[in-house]
Amino acid sequence: MKIISGNPFIKRENEKIFLDSVAFNEIVKQYKTPVLILLEKRIRENIKTFIDVFSSEFKNIQCFYSFKANFLSEICKIVLSEGIGAEIVGLPELKLALKLGFLHDKIIIGGPYLSKELIELSIKNQVKEMIIYDIDDLKKINSIAQKYNCIQDICIRINSQKYNSKLGINFNEKKISKFRNLIKDCQNIRIKSILSHYSTQMNDIKQFRNNIRTIASNLNLLSEQDINIDNINLGGGFPEATVMPREQLRKTAKEIKITLAECDVNFKNIYFEPGRYFLGDAGLFISKIVKVNDNRWIFLNIGNHICPKFARCSLRFYNASQINNPHKYKTSIAGIIPTDQDVLAKDYFFTEELVKGDKVLVTNTGAYCLTFSNRFPYRFPKILLINNNIVKEVFNPNIDKDIAIY
Ligand SMILES: Cc1ncc(COP(=O)(O)O)c(C=O)c1O
Repeated sequence: MKIISGNPFIKRENEKIFLDSVAFNEIVKQYKTPVLILLEKRIRENIKTFIDVFSSEFKNIQCFYSFKANFLSEICKIVLSEGIGAEIVGLPELKLALKLGFLHDKIIIGGPYLSKELIELSIKNQVKEMIIYDIDDLKKINSIAQKYNCIQDICIRINSQKYNSKLGINFNEKKISKFRNLIKDCQNIRIKSILSHYSTQMNDIKQFRNNIRTIASNLNLLSEQDINIDNINLGGGFPEATVMPREQLRKTAKEIKITLAECDVNFKNIYFEPGRYFLGDAGLFISKIVKVNDNRWIFLNIGNHICPKFARCSLRFYNASQINNPHKYKTSIAGIIPTDQDVLAKDYFFTEELVKGDKVLVTNTGAYCLTFSNRFPYRFPKILLINNNIVKEVFNPNIDKDIAIY
């Protein structure tokens, strides 16, 4: 059996494609395209690889899955069952994490806007840490913690210094003295951790190094003010597991360790918040060619409304109906939104013959497609979760109506 898209759970034997142990043909017989497939075993394997690689470099590593990568309950349940925590940005995600049974000390919460309701529910449930992107949020958290007579641990998100980044705190002399005064006044908070999330799809070790240098320089600034921080959080940003296979992940983990030592960063615990690495290559669309133009443009029955550019997926396209034919002819691929902007790929290597009705696999769509999807007036596709030979419908637009969480 040959592997497709570098993913051991998408295979072909002659003309036949298998998604885990399920024959592709069975799925297209039963389900109309487009359909989004998620592969449970790949999610579990990615989680295990990540934990295995990083725990062989660091004793005190903890992982918090970034819910925003894919917030479907069935997916978050899989993550939970692997012992991973939750990184949450808003109230609906927090409610979901609590409902699914994530323990309070495995939930960290933060975002550019922390509503009163979000802070209140977080504090009531004694979440592990609240992450602030702005020092003014400290007062809000402190007063709510006071009301509940408890002390809330805080992580400060600093600006990663990546060009143009607007997120996180940019400490300067004035801001750091304001921060010091604030934490003196706020008796119901305790500064525990520092976070810098650099970017998405980080393929270059330099990006990880830059992130660590930013953390190191901020830790120095803080310690000059006698503010000592226990834990560091390097965020997420790892590419899909097929794009960064185990050996490359291992090299990255080693480089992270070396850079931390070079920068003299001391810490009790190290945290990561991966999203894409766990989910990205565990998802794929089955779509169909609905139109072929003379100039080697094909149109699929998916588009940027469900496979959005914003999701920054490493999309790969395979003509499943001609899987044995060479994919070496430049083809451009458009979606079905009626705008010229709905381009999925340009000059992509595809089969010579372009046939209306051919089924196309679009891989690496497990992370952020749902999050960034929009309500262009097409029906959202069904979502299937495959484990071994079992196919489970985890989203059916006829029953569930809307993908959003409330
Ligand atoms: C603070 C933070 N942590 C974690 C993540 C997850 O990133 P990824 O899915 O690239 O691992 C993001 C994504 O934007 C983020 O902003």
